[in-house]
Amino acid sequence: DLLQMGEKWVLMKTAQTPTNIAVIKYWGKRDETLILPVNDSISVTLDPAHLCTTTTVAVSPAFQQDRMWLNGKEMSLSGGRYQNCLREIRKRAREVEDKERGIKIEKKDWEKLHLHIASYNNFPTAAGLASSAAGFACLVFALAKLMNVSEDESQLSAIARQGSGSACRSLFGGFVKWIMGKEDDGSDSLAVQLVDEKHWEDLFIIIAVVSSRQKETSSTSGMRESVETSSLLQHRAKEVVPKRTIQMEEAIQYRDFASFAKLACADSNQFHAVCLDTLPPIFYMNDTSHRQVLVYICWIISYVEKWNRSEGTPQVAYTFDAGPNAVLIARDRKAAAQLIQRLLFYFPPKSDTDLDSYLLGDKTILKDAGLEGLEDVKALSPPPENGSAQKYPGDVSYFICTRPGKGPILLSNDKLALLDPETGLPK
Ligand code: DP6
Repeated sequence: DLLQMGEKWVLMKTAQTPTNIAVIKYWGKRDETLILPVNDSISVTLDPAHLCTTTTVAVSPAFQQDRMWLNGKEMSLSGGRYQNCLREIRKRAREVEDKERGIKIEKKDWEKLHLHIASYNNFPTAAGLASSAAGFACLVFALAKLMNVSEDESQLSAIARQGSGSACRSLFGGFVKWIMGKEDDGSDSLAVQLVDEKHWEDLFIIIAVVSSRQKETSSTSGMRESVETSSLLQHRAKEVVPKRTIQMEEAIQYRDFASFAKLACADSNQFHAVCLDTLPPIFYMNDTSHRQVLVYICWIISYVEKWNRSEGTPQVAYTFDAGPNAVLIARDRKAAAQLIQRLLFYFPPKSDTDLDSYLLGDKTILKDAGLEGLEDVKALSPPPENGSAQKYPGDVSYFICTRPGKGPILLSNDKLALLDPETGLPK
């Protein structure tokens, strides 16, 4: 037996996985433990250069137990969702050999060996930007590489799904569909790539991260209550989403932005209608001090609708998840530049914020918009389609400009690992 339990070697892998935003929403489970949804959903993967999770996983005979650190802080792995992911991936582990270092792990050894996991988000976890999606996808992907698992991305997505439903869509780049499946054991509830990130390169995605935030109602309990009480959810799952996903797939295939925008906006609005149809109604921001957030969401929606109508054909689609952050998808660079002008006109930074820390991600769009500094933002005139020149400084904490992005990758540069190669502890 080459595996001596007293040995000190540490074997590790580091992966990077994107986050995703649904344009046809997942809301409601038919099985809570396996995380099986009541409808298909479709998402766009966001460029990991701007929003991603990095995870290092390590194995060593010296480790006493499974341990995990998130953004440097140790956290418990005892939750059912972590346990399910770890069990499923361990089941599929195969022999691993590092001849150079004289390390050999046999298939049966994986049951006895413990893991260290360190994960880091390149965006604020509290910002409500689907960090659990990128996190579970990255955990499963990195472990699959460490354990020499032969399953493909779709099969891995069915494991990540058991960590968090939306995580299964983060195993691919571009546009992704989570097929709800019909088996009771969940084996056919998995993600597939519709098109890769190169297919629709014109798109720009601008996220407005809202500063005024409270603890969110968790998606998990929110959707449970919707399944139990909302008849609109039943209608949505049975009648609306099946037709809408077919139309959405077509819109994506043919890069038909008008249809894409119509479907994405309608689906976001129906998801929020289901929340209101839930007993008691789910208001994601029901605290009176956050009333302005609701006003802000309504403002964004009616503004985009008005702008799209004035242009004759949609320039921008909006979609909101279970929180106030607006995700705005612009049809091309020109529309994105106009969008950023409008957003910065109505939601300028507070006087002490510079433009560089107010727009994160792909900053090239600022130049297109003719905005080199705060002076240019101050000089913006009110957009033609809207008479109101009222501004809301400070309502948005910052914007992120990004694009459709690629799927998970393995990082081979050891410097990027989050665990120390000697001790297997966070660096
Ligand atoms: C509104 O995937 O976070 O973002 O499966 O319970 O972990 P669990 O929920 P989660 O729900 C995401 C809901 C959503 C819509 C979506 O991403 O499709």
